[in-house]
Amino acid sequence: MPVSALPAQQPADRAALLLGTRRVDRGTHRCLAVHGHVDDMLLAPDGRALRLAELLAVDGAGDGIMTVVASELSGAATLTPPGTPPPADPVALPAASMAELLEQALGRMAGRRSTLLLQGACGAVEQDELLAERLRNLPFDRRLADGAAQVVVSFRDDAPATLQGATGWDTFRVSLPDKAERRSALGYWAQIRAFDPASIDLDDLAATTGGLELDDLRRLVQEHARVEPVTPRRVSEIRGAALARQFRNLLQVDHRPAISFGDVVGGEAVKAAVRQARREGRFTPLALAGPPGVGKTMLGQATAHELGVPIVYADGRLKGGIVGETARNLARFREMLVAYAPVVVFWDEIDLLLGRSTDWNGDSGASNEVRQSILTLLQDAPGLGIFVVASTNNPLSAMQHRVRNRFRIIPVLHPAGDDLLAIARLEAAKHNVTLSADVADLFQDTQDVLWNGRDIERLIESGRSNALRLADPDGRADADVHGRPLTLSAADLRLLVRHLAAARDEAAELNGLEAVFVVDNPYDLPWIARQIEGRSRPPLPPYLAEVMSADGLPDRQRIAARLAAAGVRDAG
Ligand SMILES: Nc1ncnc2c1ncn2[C@@H]1O[C@H](COP(=O)(O)OP(=O)(O)OP(=O)(O)O)[C@@H](O)[C@H]1O
Ligand SMILES: [Mg+2]
Repeated sequence: MPVSALPAQQPADRAALLLGTRRVDRGTHRCLAVHGHVDDMLLAPDGRALRLAELLAVDGAGDGIMTVVASELSGAATLTPPGTPPPADPVALPAASMAELLEQALGRMAGRRSTLLLQGACGAVEQDELLAERLRNLPFDRRLADGAAQVVVSFRDDAPATLQGATGWDTFRVSLPDKAERRSALGYWAQIRAFDPASIDLDDLAATTGGLELDDLRRLVQEHARVEPVTPRRVSEIRGAALARQFRNLLQVDHRPAISFGDVVGGEAVKAAVRQARREGRFTPLALAGPPGVGKTMLGQATAHELGVPIVYADGRLKGGIVGETARNLARFREMLVAYAPVVVFWDEIDLLLGRSTDWNGDSGASNEVRQSILTLLQDAPGLGIFVVASTNNPLSAMQHRVRNRFRIIPVLHPAGDDLLAIARLEAAKHNVTLSADVADLFQDTQDVLWNGRDIERLIESGRSNALRLADPDGRADADVHGRPLTLSAADLRLLVRHLAAARDEAAELNGLEAVFVVDNPYDLPWIARQIEGRSRPPLPPYLAEVMSADGLPDRQRIAARLAAAGVRDAG
């Protein structure tokens, strides 16, 4: 879907939208709850970056509307923009409780064209049931009835549940600024010499600072000369901090993942799909299906590396424990991704959030709403510059048919044949170890063992520490012995391999069979994907060899029988 078809999804011109909402509301609704990034600066129509209160004051001044700003800590005061005459009878009230300020300010403002902005109402409403009740009934207050006065209440993050859907209230969410707004704000600060514009590429900075509030951005450029220069690393640091602030530990981000396609053995179909997506600019969500430890996460990371964009890691933790939490998490998640785009989202174990077994009612009872918002996100993602790469071990038994349909499912399966040695070599190199030639024979002789990449990683790690222990039994040797490159031979690894071979991982085999069963395009089967590249066909892991038909395709009936015998059922 082209980006232009999705205007409502983009956080466009926040100030204009907010002021537009307010104008409409003055006539009909007289109460407006503003939530989200309410403490951020907003880019006013005249090009200045202003706080919410200033923005309202500037906007109202032209129409002769008086703006009063109130908070529990600093009381209430009339706010006039510079260059405008003060009102004849300004409001000035000492610090007091929110309910009291509201009462007194409304008394003073009655009948005058005015706006009352209540700031920091979140905490107050939570602690004061009566205040919540008072706000709910506010639209029916006689003093607002003539339409002259309007009340705007700002809530950091989310508007309280008591106001959602309350009669006479409208809500407006201040989103994160988009690229155009970031660029304009940078232009404004450059113009007022908040920093030296010659020293920073503003287009580049605006393009790489998605997820930041204008406030973060301003701090970044102001610190540029005095504290720390704006470098890609510094930008990543600030973006990471902003993400942590918004999502605590729910999400992680890596701005420059180090793993490339060359670091992943196999996965040809995934690599080809990513290259095609980049060529065509169409990022259909992928689901990497297969057993644990075979490189699904690595392929997600390498995808972001290949595209040169950050990777955001999401998983089942987005599912909250309290009423409405999942829906809230998802709304903010979407907003963050839109701001971060272009970006890869690696959504691990997607079935935890979208799967059959998910107990939606345990959350809010709004099950369908949550599910629908994920499905909508998947549908919109390609047009928003968000490349979803999901992973699942159970594409058949944990994902419903209509959910599977949102993805191109690509199986990532157990390595076999030469791939085993290739992974072992990579792992050895990571640990500064070389492998002697006979290790190849060791893998040749163990074709009946079901290896995954993680097993091979452990094999090399264990082999290495065993060899070090043998070379230096009492651990007294100097650092030189331990720092020296080490060669591992088949003899060093044989015992470990026999140990691994003894266990058969039935669950992992079933994971592999599920993935093969649900694939839409047989050319995405790993061994066929490799043949397309003109390379020789690798041997199959044993459980796949058993279900293969003469034409080289898996026999789906045989797979179905094996899955059924194991009690694995299609989630439908
Ligand atoms: N195809 C591969 N090429 C190179 N190394 C691999 C491969 N597969 C696995 N490994 C090794 O195994 C480790 C685990 O891989 P990874 O985390 O990508 O597996 P996964 O499929 O995401 O597993 P899980 O389902 O448990 O999350 C990697 O860090 C790497 O050391
Ligand atoms: Mg993983």
